[in-house]
Amino acid sequence: MKDGRGGKWANAALQNGYSHHNDCMPHGGYVQWQRDCLTEMMRIIPEDGAIFYNHKWRVQGGLLQDRQDIVSGFPVRQIIIWKRKGGLNFNAGYFLPTYEVIYLIAKPKFKLSTKANAHGDVWDFTQEMNNEHPAAFPVNLIDRIVSATDAKIILDPFMGSGTTAISAINFKRDYIGIDISPEYCEMARKRIKQHQAQVKLW
Ligand SMILES: C[S@@+](CC[C@H](N)C(=O)[O-])C[C@H]1O[C@@H](n2cnc3c(N)ncnc32)[C@H](O)[C@@H]1O
Repeated sequence: MKDGRGGKWANAALQNGYSHHNDCMPHGGYVQWQRDCLTEMMRIIPEDGAIFYNHKWRVQGGLLQDRQDIVSGFPVRQIIIWKRKGGLNFNAGYFLPTYEVIYLIAKPKFKLSTKANAHGDVWDFTQEMNNEHPAAFPVNLIDRIVSATDAKIILDPFMGSGTTAISAINFKRDYIGIDISPEYCEMARKRIKQHQAQVKLW
């Protein structure tokens, strides 16, 4: 949309990208970077830990780019479909994408929390609309993930506006959040503080 096709989507959140980060990397370098991130996450999680790795699939040059090149070789146990409401599709060559995937990458001893396996593998959550961050997750999506594990500490290395911290607080877990953007870190700090104050009132 940076090429002027803004139209009625001129104010769409991601039109101007992230504050301190440009996703526009050469594909090979991007894949290697993401693989390096996953390798480090695998290194630091415990033997009963898991990574919930969300990444959009995209069509580029007319071909579907699933994320097999990124996740190949990692212990992917399941693919969860996050069914969102619509989105933007300027391309007449394929249908409007309405889902994203979450790869459950799990160490051998990982088990879901009690009864969490009653959830199906297609999750219907509307995307976040009330957040200044251009690509925030809905809290109920992350609540589903956090509550489905017994993890004591939740790490989100791409924390953005702090949604994972909000969920961790909701389920009384500790959390570690990282973001490259000082602006988003500040956004997250404020949001966490407000949420903690609210939780105290409950
Ligand atoms: C999809 S957004 C995450 C949004 C978050 N889940 C939320 O609900 O607000 C991805 C985030 O990754 C951050 N990011 C990009 N590159 C990064 C890096 N190398 N290290 C840390 N954070 C990075 C961006 O600033 C952006 O906030």
